[in-house]
Amino acid sequence: MRVLVVGGGGREHALIWKLSQSPAVKKIYCAPGNAGISSLAECIPVKAEETEKLQKFAREKEIHLTVVGPEAPLSIGITDLFQENGQLIFGPCSRGARLEGSKAWAKEFMTKYNIPTAQYEIFKKPREAYRYLKDVSYPAVVKADGLAAGKGVIIAEDAREAAEAVHYIMEDRAFGAAGDSIVIEEFLRGEEVSVFAITDGETYYPLASVQDHKAIYEQDRGPNTGGMGAYSPAPILSEQLAAKVIRDIFEPLLAGLKNEGINYRGVIFGGLMITPEEKLKVLEFNVRFGDPETQVLLPLIESDLCPLLYEAARGNLQSVSPPKWSSYAAVCVILASQGYPGKYEKGKEISGLEKVSQFENAAVFHAGTSFEGNRTLTAGGRVLGLTTWDPSLKDALAKAYKMADLIDFEGKYFRKDIGHRALRRTE
Ligand SMILES: Nc1ncnc2c1ncn2[C@@H]1O[C@H](COP(=O)(O)OP(=O)(O)O)[C@@H](O)[C@H]1O
Ligand SMILES: [Mg+2]
Repeated sequence: MRVLVVGGGGREHALIWKLSQSPAVKKIYCAPGNAGISSLAECIPVKAEETEKLQKFAREKEIHLTVVGPEAPLSIGITDLFQENGQLIFGPCSRGARLEGSKAWAKEFMTKYNIPTAQYEIFKKPREAYRYLKDVSYPAVVKADGLAAGKGVIIAEDAREAAEAVHYIMEDRAFGAAGDSIVIEEFLRGEEVSVFAITDGETYYPLASVQDHKAIYEQDRGPNTGGMGAYSPAPILSEQLAAKVIRDIFEPLLAGLKNEGINYRGVIFGGLMITPEEKLKVLEFNVRFGDPETQVLLPLIESDLCPLLYEAARGNLQSVSPPKWSSYAAVCVILASQGYPGKYEKGKEISGLEKVSQFENAAVFHAGTSFEGNRTLTAGGRVLGLTTWDPSLKDALAKAYKMADLIDFEGKYFRKDIGHRALRRTE
């Protein structure tokens, strides 16, 4: 089978790493890929959003399955385009992708289908939003409706901050058209967890739970990043809570999508809050694998990933067995460039990769790297995802941090407390 993976970060590297272990997969292309990915796949210089080019490429190379990493191409209809041309693709159609691409749409969907979520109001006019801010309790959460690269959510401590957030999103148009509408919602306390399922719209297979660390500094302080680390499973998600995820979230979600006539084939990724009373509330849905969550999910799947994605894309997921899960814990520690998530420099030479290549139950997933001759250079804010798995979370973490010491580049930065919540809970 020839497979095309769309995207070029750690998530895509992990997907390709796992797919390349499949006996069914003979050749992998990646658009655009990165230096690490190029050891497993042929990288082509096409961006993830260039959907027409990708469709033509897949046609020319007789690709059997295209797997989409990021949300942007899904939102603009890459799946619709492939399907119109009779080409198999893993990832929801643009209508399904609204679950992530429009927070207002997702909230209305959740209300309609009784999926637990924070109280909210939707606004299209700033004037009405300002008026509403006088009556809510604080903190309150102001969210741009559309895709904003993880920057469109502002937690406002008081009415003044909330008004500034509304102004920033709707009047300064900080995120462009993504701020034409906003959602203002109730602030929820508790601990966050991510849950995943692969579905063909009929059958779905839940994956393991994950927690990530969004903040740049230790103790989860400072500005948010794309994610500085992750681990799976998340000990907070007890068996009882996992059963609630199925009953209160996945079941009504799938039924709702079907009822709306959306034939959803891809990943469902729920960002949940577990409140102090152990209530589950959906903060948001994403319509693709997470990054870095995928780096810790895939090493824990003991069975072949390819048939799952292939049959989900074909609408025949029930013909394959659910994924077989390892009992290990997996962790990912991100090495980032100094300054990220603000301004940072690129082009720093990375050394020490060969020192960790023999580590067992470990993988270095490249997030932002490039090649110059035979040197590997930094090329992004997040540079590498050091991923390890082990029967014990503690040992997995120790191994990842050993790798973090052996690999070096100018301005290397990483958090030293990845997994702190899980460690406390498992001790
Ligand atoms: N209602 C809420 N209460 C408390 N925190 C929230 C709420 N909504 C969002 N957040 C925080 O903001 C983060 C980003 O919000 P989310 O809805 O996941 O949007 P996105 O990932 O698109 O930026 C969440 O991970 C969570 O930490
Ligand atoms: Mg989120």
